[in-house]
Amino acid sequence: MDSVKETLVFDEKEALVAYTIEIWKRVCATSIAERGRMTVALSGGRTPVDLYSSLAQEGEGFSWEKTHIFLVDERFVPHDDEDSNFRMIKETLLTAVTAPKENIHPVDTSLPGPDEAAEAYEKEIIRHFRLGPGQFPRFDLVLLGLGEDGHTASLFPGSAVLQEKSHPVRVVRLDNKLHDRITLTLPAINNAHHIVFHVEGAHKAEMLRKVAEVKDPDLPASLINPAEGDLLFLADRPAAGLLLKQ
Ligand code: 6PG
Repeated sequence: MDSVKETLVFDEKEALVAYTIEIWKRVCATSIAERGRMTVALSGGRTPVDLYSSLAQEGEGFSWEKTHIFLVDERFVPHDDEDSNFRMIKETLLTAVTAPKENIHPVDTSLPGPDEAAEAYEKEIIRHFRLGPGQFPRFDLVLLGLGEDGHTASLFPGSAVLQEKSHPVRVVRLDNKLHDRITLTLPAINNAHHIVFHVEGAHKAEMLRKVAEVKDPDLPASLINPAEGDLLFLADRPAAGLLLKQ
């Protein structure tokens, strides 16, 4: 896929999902041809549920035995907790595909605390990507959502983690959030080959305009800007309702 930074708008959710699946297949084929495997980082939340379920039902075009799945972020809750991103991804996608257990890389929230979980997750990323000091993972594909406050991953407005320059993974502690979180940092996300935002609903329209068009620097999602990769916003018509160019 050539380097792109654009927004695509879909009238039907099914078309948006189908387009994303085609991206996944293309990235999968390229990644495996070039690197012998595909490494993807998936977000939680509600938006991607249908996409993950559709991925699970797709037959051809995947090499699950060569596909490694990480999480963009996680809440520090047990994997069977209703707020667990891993639980949602497992229930919608992982139980239905043939990716071997060793290809699935959740955040280990059974550890004593979020600091230990973040440290272990970072070590797993370093191991998987064979990173040296100061190096960042290069995910083949990162799927992101957009919060109504402009957050993405667990990178929230005003968070000190937005300034992180040396660690791929950090803990996020926010007073008004129910759970501590573990998140990929901006340099870890921005080092990806392909980054795709999936945004749905009129309630996201103002934020999508501020992020995709205005690039408001106070909004963490605006700071997603791959150094040598693609950035794509895939939006349904309601979410794109305030965009100038549609
Ligand atoms: C999470 C996600 C988060 C999500 C946005 C959008 O842990 O909740 O990683 O960044 O993508 O909050 O969430 P919705 O898709 O539910 O609107």
